[in-house]
Amino acid sequence: PFTPRVFSGIQPSGGLTLGNYLGALKRFAQAQDAGVETIYCMVDLHAITVWQDPEKLRHATRELCAGFIASGVDPEKSILFNQSQVAEHAQLAWIFNCVARMGWMKRMTQFKDKAGKNAENASLGLFGYPALMAADILIYHATHVPVGEDQKQHLELTRDIATKFNHDYGVDFFPITEPVIEGAATRVMSLRDGSKKMSKSDPSDMSRINLTDNADTIAKKIRKAKTDPEPLPSEVVGLAERPEARNLINIYAALSDQSVEQVMRDVGGKAFSEFKPMLADLAVAQMSPISTEMSRLMQDQAEIDRVLAEGAGRARAIAAPILRKTYEIVGM
Ligand code: ADP
Ligand code: NA
Repeated sequence: PFTPRVFSGIQPSGGLTLGNYLGALKRFAQAQDAGVETIYCMVDLHAITVWQDPEKLRHATRELCAGFIASGVDPEKSILFNQSQVAEHAQLAWIFNCVARMGWMKRMTQFKDKAGKNAENASLGLFGYPALMAADILIYHATHVPVGEDQKQHLELTRDIATKFNHDYGVDFFPITEPVIEGAATRVMSLRDGSKKMSKSDPSDMSRINLTDNADTIAKKIRKAKTDPEPLPSEVVGLAERPEARNLINIYAALSDQSVEQVMRDVGGKAFSEFKPMLADLAVAQMSPISTEMSRLMQDQAEIDRVLAEGAGRARAIAAPILRKTYEIVGM
């Protein structure tokens, strides 16, 4: 009974990587052409679960918006806005804080990773993050959420919250949202360590390709990417125990919109000295126009603010009646 609707968000916590692009942004742009409503959010309320310098947060929010647009998300086709500008997210999150159970939250592995050894000193917001994420999604009755693999557990919690709310109040009000985790690059790994996720928070800049990197930097990072000394295997199965090779092949497949099988038919058996320049050319061709377009967009910040304000208005028009109805169901 729920109209298909896509929602996803990214934190404006400074810096976007090839992982964010292939795992999220590129797929967001593809989803908007599939004939469903697409809603994309800069989740600044999530960003402040760890300390953010206010001026940097303001800048990162605009830069993220520029990153969305430069990656092909069209603010005419998709709703593009900033989370804190639509108060209904935080309002629904409070209701969900009262639905979610402590035990569920304590099982979230991302909290354990992000809080580290000093969990007692983590913010309450970092602990409650997945309930806010559930609200981000369900305030639009979103049915599909394209995300990277790292968000799978949070999406399961979103489903648990919707199920419990519906059950506790005897309604069929919130959809049971489907995570959409597909393609070759749902988990892009570090270029320096095949066992770690590519991330903006990695101390080594060589471990990632940033959306703001220029052509030379992109090519250099791929040339220097860590690999084992063997040539590429001739078949896909040979990638199983070779995380660095697997990662570069996955990146190649995602950038060229091919399956891993198709890519391996072309490059299987090649030495890295031959494959890496192919990958570098492809990455430069796909990624450097994005960085150029981001800097162009960042020169007109008033226009970015205008896009975000307009998107917030459109988002609120969907969110407000759903919050009103939620309050009514709850007895408010
Ligand atoms: P980050 O993980 O970089 O802090 P977010 O948590 O805001 O950024 O994630 C934004 C989106 O990018 C999410 O859908 C997430 O799953 C995806 N993502 C982040 N890193 C990667 C990666 N290395 N590979 C694939 N997808 C990723
Ligand atoms: Na993440």
